[in-house]
Amino acid sequence: MATADARARALFHATFGTVPEGDARAPGRVNLMGDHTDYNGGFVLPIAIDRDTHFAYQPRADTLVRIVSEHGEPAEFDLADLSHGGPPWSEYVRGVAWAMDAQGTTGWDGAVATDVPLGAGLSSSASLEIATAEILSALARRPRDPLAMAEAGQRAENDWVGMECGIMDQLSVAASVEGSALLIDCETLSFEAIPVPDEVAFVVLDTSTRRQLTSSAYNERRATCERAASYLGVASLRHVDIQDLDRVVSSLDDVAGRRVRHVVTENDRVVQAAIALRSGDLDEFGRLMSESHASLRLDFESSTPLLDAIVEVATSLPGCFGARVTGAGFGGCAIAAVASGFTEEFEASLLDNYACRSGLKAQTFVCRPAAGSTSSIDH
Ligand code: GLA
Repeated sequence: MATADARARALFHATFGTVPEGDARAPGRVNLMGDHTDYNGGFVLPIAIDRDTHFAYQPRADTLVRIVSEHGEPAEFDLADLSHGGPPWSEYVRGVAWAMDAQGTTGWDGAVATDVPLGAGLSSSASLEIATAEILSALARRPRDPLAMAEAGQRAENDWVGMECGIMDQLSVAASVEGSALLIDCETLSFEAIPVPDEVAFVVLDTSTRRQLTSSAYNERRATCERAASYLGVASLRHVDIQDLDRVVSSLDDVAGRRVRHVVTENDRVVQAAIALRSGDLDEFGRLMSESHASLRLDFESSTPLLDAIVEVATSLPGCFGARVTGAGFGGCAIAAVASGFTEEFEASLLDNYACRSGLKAQTFVCRPAAGSTSSIDH
């Protein structure tokens, strides 16, 4: 199949009858370590992946936005009069326009195509948001500012779409550096590229299950964490000292105590994982991944039996350093760190073993740490 870039251009041409001058590209992301820590002011370690969303576009002279997608109905709206409505995918575009205060900007005609699997926990929505932010920055002739674009994407999710996500997805999609993972401090919003050694490959393990209610389970987890932080008298769970963890956990009810234990130990694992990655200690990195999975399964309860099964199969195979559920969870994907020479054999055995255990056909692919979003326009 043609790449998303070519498909977006072809869709544009088929819809609007001209060749688009602009292309905004934003990758998906997969998180290596640190889940449900970003909205608790903690640390995360994602990579952008070499699968992109492309928005082929043509600036307009007025404030209209007319957009089409390979998935979903066409949409049309006016930047000068933003409101909800139209097909659900267009809410991400409207939401970013709203968050970037785009009333004064000119509109565009655009066509979207993506190679990021939808709804799999690989940030297809953040990639659409950041591709939109790239277009709006270009149209407003603003200098490219990855943090500002990420913050606009997050505001669009939180206040326009109603998903209370943190900053991880949007920031990794906008700011990643090729060949590196991005260590983000979600309190200070500082970030640093950590080079990924050539000896490791990351394999996405898609269980082929999707859960519709992800956002309600997610928002509920977030609310529990925030209630616990306020009960403990800290600004966020980032500020619970790991040395104090047993005492803190015993002061909370069972569920809140386990959620807090996950967040505090997970933050520590991100810091340790960044050190392990930097020094090329892949056994330690893999061990931390598997420990993280156990914490998400037992304490945060964001895994599912099929995610547990795929992780168990992965970690039993030769060459696998470790594996864990990734992103929000409640369905979707896990990620495995695998020795570079072993990936083909690993993927084949994983598909067989997972099919035997679950009766389901998983999807796997190796992803390379990619660069964050870009945009270009020919004049
Ligand atoms: C989703 C959210 C992120 C993050 C992860 C869990 O991907 O969008 O902000 O909270 O879940 O780590």
